[in-house]
Amino acid sequence: MTDTLIRLLRDTDWPEVIAAEERAYAASGLSEGGEALRSRHRASPSTCFVLEDADGFAGYLLALPYPLFRCPDLSRASDGAVLRREQSNLHAHDLVIAERARGRGLAPRLLRHLEAAGRAAGHRTLSLVAVRGSEVLWTRLGYRARPEVGLPASYGAEAVYMAKPLDRAPNPADPTLGSAPRAEVG
Ligand SMILES: CC(C)(COP(=O)(O)OP(=O)(O)OC[C@H]1O[C@@H](n2cnc3c(N)ncnc32)[C@H](O)[C@@H]1OP(=O)(O)O)[C@@H](O)C(=O)NCCC(=O)NCCS
Repeated sequence: MTDTLIRLLRDTDWPEVIAAEERAYAASGLSEGGEALRSRHRASPSTCFVLEDADGFAGYLLALPYPLFRCPDLSRASDGAVLRREQSNLHAHDLVIAERARGRGLAPRLLRHLEAAGRAAGHRTLSLVAVRGSEVLWTRLGYRARPEVGLPASYGAEAVYMAKPLDRAPNPADPTLGSAPRAEVG
């Protein structure tokens, strides 16, 4: 574990990121393809990370500021100019651990790294969309399911929006506890 490092995503990582994304999602129709993936990174390069161990690429996490209770449509590229205006919520858009590196707790480690980065950058909440049954894993990390939040059809019927506060101290005005708008997509 100690020989696995987390660093910012570099241009030279794209072939491995795109291949890992395709292997993870193509069979379930959730792959968004290279151009959309690159647009998430262009929107927020400081919140996109790669895991590297002695054998090389071990996974990635792409995150970008995005309004709470909404998420990017997998079939559309992100418009960075619009997203740079969002300051409050950070959205963990996609996280894939390379097959050979799964089962080592690297997904929680990457997410905790993102939480620290988000906190340091002043974001108040962190959101994600759980797909393929991964809701169980994120619940353990403090994310709360918000099944009432409408998602773009591109995520499939079983996807669930989740969010958690990033505040250091309990916040009575926690925005992730408030009522979510229904069918907010895009
Ligand atoms: C989901 C994923 C990121 C988990 O990464 P990982 O490093 O293998 O997970 P961990 O080793 O940290 O697993 C932690 C725990 O979560 C469980 N878990 C992992 N993936 C799970 C899933 N899809 N559904 C339910 N539980 C899962 C593990 O069994 C483990 O439980 P344990 O601690 O009781 O043994 C990885 O399997 C992956 O890249 N999958 C393909 C892409 C994907 O689905 N990404 C999630 C998008 S929301």
